[in-house]
Amino acid sequence: MQSSDKVRTALLGWYQLVHETRGMPWRKAFNPQRSRAERAQRAYEVWVSEIMLQQTQVATVIPYYNRWMEKFPAIADLHTPNDSSDPAKAAANIDEVNALWKGLGYYSRASRLLAGAQKVVKELGGLLPDNAKDMESKIPGIGRYSAGAICSIAYGEKVPVLDGNVHRLLSRFLMLHSNPKSKATLDTLWTAAEAMVDVKGFYEDTDYQNPGDINQALIELGSTVCKVQNPSCGTCPLKDLCGAYQKSSFATQHSQDIQ
Ligand code: ADE
Repeated sequence: MQSSDKVRTALLGWYQLVHETRGMPWRKAFNPQRSRAERAQRAYEVWVSEIMLQQTQVATVIPYYNRWMEKFPAIADLHTPNDSSDPAKAAANIDEVNALWKGLGYYSRASRLLAGAQKVVKELGGLLPDNAKDMESKIPGIGRYSAGAICSIAYGEKVPVLDGNVHRLLSRFLMLHSNPKSKATLDTLWTAAEAMVDVKGFYEDTDYQNPGDINQALIELGSTVCKVQNPSCGTCPLKDLCGAYQKSSFATQHSQDIQ
């Protein structure tokens, strides 16, 4: 087994155990057979969750996400006054959206979501683009991370994610000591994140083909285990493969040998 396959196997084994217990309503089984409209609906749901999860904990987001989906179950519910063929349908406005967002903070996220959704309804026939490249270039407020998360989770597209948590996890895993914000470091990390979802041949025998699970495993492992302070290395599924962990446990064993 190649080492990248070992990483994926370890990540997915861990993800399957934890994700059962965390009750995130935006996580649904990946189904490659969905129609274009069903795929776009999944993309809308994942988009809302990803925007809410920026700078906010999962447990805080869950009730906000559920209330949002009750009020705006489809992207068309966020139309402007001129878009709807049904005059009885009230247009979404920023006050309504802000009221739903109240308490979640960072209100610019809500207005970006509304502006992006209204563009999709007005200009793209109500369907979010069906690939990450178009998602990033056509939808205001969606950058490379969000496009990767949405398209890998909703469409099964093999595109990477790199948020702050995955950045830290991969930097430790690869033992990178370069300036974390430099272009060279970011290029290295995006390439490493790409390799994670380069699932060609992986699990061929079991039809496994959801890079969204690998990305979500990385995001969640980064935020809950590979934490900024006091990472829980003892419970990390990647510890045997992690450069930083191997180096520090080697150093610890060695210093005990010397004493
Ligand atoms: N944070 C951002 N995206 C997430 C996801 N899909 N699952 C858990 N935490 C997240």
